[in-house]
Amino acid sequence: MHTIFVKSEEEEYQCREDQHLLVAMKAVGKSCIPSGCHGGGCGVCKVRILAGDVERKVMSRKHVSEEEQQQGISLACRVFPRSTVTLEIYESTTHQ
Ligand code: FES
Repeated sequence: MHTIFVKSEEEEYQCREDQHLLVAMKAVGKSCIPSGCHGGGCGVCKVRILAGDVERKVMSRKHVSEEEQQQGISLACRVFPRSTVTLEIYESTTHQ
């Protein structure tokens, strides 16, 4: 079990290594990260990993550009924790 800190929402929860970040969040009844398809298809669950080790599954370039990926931006439903993780909700500039 690893602790996930959602810094921008001041929330935290526990996530197993075999759970992606949204499944574990839902399991404890929280909704601090926007949740949609859970399959990498809708792009609503974008977060920026600020600290910690994670395993990232393949993400569509449609939702996360190479440049964004280099900045630690990921789809939460494609991220599996490997240590305590600190992240924030990523507000895309196109939504402002
Ligand atoms: S919930 Fe749809 S891409 Fe993550």
